[in-house]
Amino acid sequence: MKKDILTLLDLSKEDFEIFFRRALELKKDHSKGISDRPFAGKTLGLIFDKPSTRTRLSFETAMVQLGGTSIFISAKDTQIARNEPVRDTARVLSRYLDCLAIRTFSQDLLNEFAEYAAIPVINALTDLYHPCQVLSDLLTVIEHKGGYKDLKIAWVGDGNNVAHSWINAAAVLELNLILACPEGYYPDSKIVEKALERKCGKIMITSDPVEAAEDADVIYTDVWASMGQESEQIKRKQAFKPFQVDKELVDKASKDVIVMHCLPAHRGEEISEEVLEGPNSVVWDQSENKLHMHKAVLEVLMRD
Ligand code: CP
Ligand code: NVA
Repeated sequence: MKKDILTLLDLSKEDFEIFFRRALELKKDHSKGISDRPFAGKTLGLIFDKPSTRTRLSFETAMVQLGGTSIFISAKDTQIARNEPVRDTARVLSRYLDCLAIRTFSQDLLNEFAEYAAIPVINALTDLYHPCQVLSDLLTVIEHKGGYKDLKIAWVGDGNNVAHSWINAAAVLELNLILACPEGYYPDSKIVEKALERKCGKIMITSDPVEAAEDADVIYTDVWASMGQESEQIKRKQAFKPFQVDKELVDKASKDVIVMHCLPAHRGEEISEEVLEGPNSVVWDQSENKLHMHKAVLEVLMRD
């Protein structure tokens, strides 16, 4: 049966471990100039409804390095924009492509694609989740911290799509995750409840950024207004002001804390220039690891 990655709850702990192991192997091979091209003749389609630099380029490069091809298309240039039903598009694309990565607004639309497509469907970001981002971020955590067990991971900022994927990862991998968000910008309560139902991991939510940052091994932040929330930018800037990841906050954490951001970053808003460019920041490693993780993901999903 084909496998999709729509949310991180689609994965078992073993699946995560396979992805981590394989991404690390692929990264090592790449650094030694060893390449394997198992995807000759295979095509990944990317249908994006929102802008992207890292996710698009890392998926496209991953396909090139694995010997395959990718086709990028902006959703507005397809017949979907003229109301062709998703279920029809999904079945047609399954006759051309071997895998499909989708970046869009609605998780329901993505789920419908996956239901009707005969090929694996990958969530490349929706309003609700960004699973591949957190998969590659965990790889960065493993590289810098030697693992993810017993670490205090602090999310500081908006309870958004990336935060939701961290919550799902916490539920599967039993992470110790604390999220500090302004009141009114907490993560979706249904997503939190569903994660807590698994009764594993420690997921806490607070409106105090210092409580989250204290002794943290990882501090993660993201933009205050995600794609699609541009009209709320001014209101959000006010509400999120005390949540900036600056030197004062980072000083509360463990001395070898790593500071993470999925990027793009807004210096002087969710993160200070000093912290983003400082010695604890691992943001460029995060960006690089998207390439290695996407290769591992494509390999596993397109193996058969
Ligand atoms: N982190 C991330 O998903 O970046 P892009 O929006 O550039 O793909
Ligand atoms: N939360 C951000 C992530 C961008 C990679 C957004 O959805 O815009």
